[in-house]
Amino acid sequence: MTRKLIVDTDPGQDDAVAILLALASPAELDVAAIITVAGNVPLALTRVNARKVLELAGRTDIPVYAGCDRPMRRQSVTAEHVHGKTGLDGPDLPEPSMPLQPQHGVDFLIDALRAAAPGTYTLCTLGPLTNIGMALIKAPDIASRIREIVMMGGAYFEVGNITPAAEFNIYVDPEAADVVLRSGIPITMLPLDVTHRALATPARLHAIGALGNQAGRAIAAMLNFSERFDLAKYGWDGAPLHDPNVIAYLLQPDIYEGRQVNVSVELASDLTLGMTVVDYWRITDRPKNVHYIRNVNADAFYGLLTTRIPRLP
Ligand code: RIB
Ligand code: CA
Repeated sequence: MTRKLIVDTDPGQDDAVAILLALASPAELDVAAIITVAGNVPLALTRVNARKVLELAGRTDIPVYAGCDRPMRRQSVTAEHVHGKTGLDGPDLPEPSMPLQPQHGVDFLIDALRAAAPGTYTLCTLGPLTNIGMALIKAPDIASRIREIVMMGGAYFEVGNITPAAEFNIYVDPEAADVVLRSGIPITMLPLDVTHRALATPARLHAIGALGNQAGRAIAAMLNFSERFDLAKYGWDGAPLHDPNVIAYLLQPDIYEGRQVNVSVELASDLTLGMTVVDYWRITDRPKNVHYIRNVNADAFYGLLTTRIPRLP
């Protein structure tokens, strides 16, 4: 029984790898639609990049929607310094010819959830949570219809990456993250605590680039570009690979470790805005709203990537 996904994303090289990993796993995952959001780069680019990735994989049958072009309340924050001016620098991918769907991504999400039986869709969020937050405010009834949200976002033991306290996806739209965290929807969170243990070392990148197909070559070019900032920042032997952990968790949850705890988000402090405060030792009686993932078997994660990506064109 394949799991039906709606992917909300701000591609972004690591988003692209996550989407390709999902498309390389049709026996387990059915990507029903992609909704794009402002994040790594503005929506005008993320809504193009998502289609570039689908055309790379030969999957122009999957509809792409444009969602929100800015956070619910705050000014946009982007990350061109990591992802380049196109947001997908590295490989030279052609401009897409497949169309963008005319409906707003938030309205699509509401309609799709209402039209399907409760529990049909799993939401995979790879960027800021603006679209999900807006959908939940516009149509609170959809909360009970979502099987699970599996998100890349947050940080606690690994602290922040866009500020000393906050991870990028949460920091860009902390109000949207707060709506999602309080929604009662089953949530699995893959934070920096786990993605910083999945480093794209030269050997791992070489293995992907040597796979011999265009997807493998494109992924190697993407990650060789996007990792240069993190290599300089962290001084590690590889850059963390974030978003594909969302898909790998769905494919092989047993290579991950976590626990059910409370995760809350800071909305008021300028110093710690967007910080995910994780009650990992269960000190408070706050609701245990998140399956918080803290560790991954990195070799198994990269083994999954290098065995699945060759299935693509
Ligand atoms: O902090 C990492 C996250 O922010 C990833 O999703 C990356 O694509 C950026 O969106
Ligand atoms: Ca992302």
